[in-house]
Amino acid sequence: LALLVPTAFAQVDPSGSGLTIGFAQVGSESAWRTAFSEAVIAEAEARGINLLFSDGQQRQENQIAAIRSFIAQGVDAIILAPVVETGWDEVLQEAADNDIPVVIVDRNVTADRSLWVTRVSSDFVHEGRLAAAWLAQATAGDCDIVELQGTVGSSAALDRQQGFNEVIALFDNMEIVLTQSGDFTRTGGKEVMESFLNTMDPADICAVWAHNDDMLIGATQAMEEAGIDPGDDILTISVDAIPDIFLAMAEGKANATVELSPNMGGPAFDAVVAYLNGETLPDWIPVAGGIYFPDTAMEEYEARSGGGE
Ligand code: AHR
Repeated sequence: LALLVPTAFAQVDPSGSGLTIGFAQVGSESAWRTAFSEAVIAEAEARGINLLFSDGQQRQENQIAAIRSFIAQGVDAIILAPVVETGWDEVLQEAADNDIPVVIVDRNVTADRSLWVTRVSSDFVHEGRLAAAWLAQATAGDCDIVELQGTVGSSAALDRQQGFNEVIALFDNMEIVLTQSGDFTRTGGKEVMESFLNTMDPADICAVWAHNDDMLIGATQAMEEAGIDPGDDILTISVDAIPDIFLAMAEGKANATVELSPNMGGPAFDAVVAYLNGETLPDWIPVAGGIYFPDTAMEEYEARSGGGE
């Protein structure tokens, strides 16, 4: 008789203790990404979760191989931070076929909605809008902008660009005059900014808009090497709020950053537990962030870098 009773969901401890979860991370391209990986690993340790961590080195094929390996190992769940938006349906279907739930974190996927449980992330479009709104205010809506894009095909780059462009379209005299991807890396940002400075007269550049702080810091190095004062001769706006950008702001080399919280491990693990316990989850679990300026930069640097380095 007992066998005929419908099986209730086996209750998982609210902390997730005892679960084995695979985490397919994008890579370690930026200081923000490293902070995010460290936060997820620390959160898993604190909860007693057995975390299988994979660094995809910014290559989708590595992430797909990691997911297949997690499936073969019979994990309880998979957390995926996807490098690009498209091309996930086949491997996510394989996870579904093996009854392994997948939670998306950070960047988005275009995959069939039935193939993932929920997404824990910030609102990248909003981040772009916030960046542009600040720049419009700082320049009275008159600014020729060079743009350092993030990884081509990533939702972080696509959505930030969309949000920024929506806002500057409201101003007749705000325009993106040059744009190129620096792949979210410091080296990429420096190289692209060097080429921008060689392509046009730096005196005609009002601001640099970088999809992340690392590219912006690379760009400040390029500007300084060219005898330009970043933050003064050319305004700067970027995203992430890593400790180094606060230091740059405190030194007068950067003007503003939009925060992206790296603390998404907790909500992602909570989502896995809730799903395994039979709860229905929303499509999106938002993570909030603010915008920061030089006035609080040293204070923020000290708080975020553990008292300064
Ligand atoms: O997907 C989020 C972005 O990825 C961060 O803004 C950037 O630093 C990272 O590479």
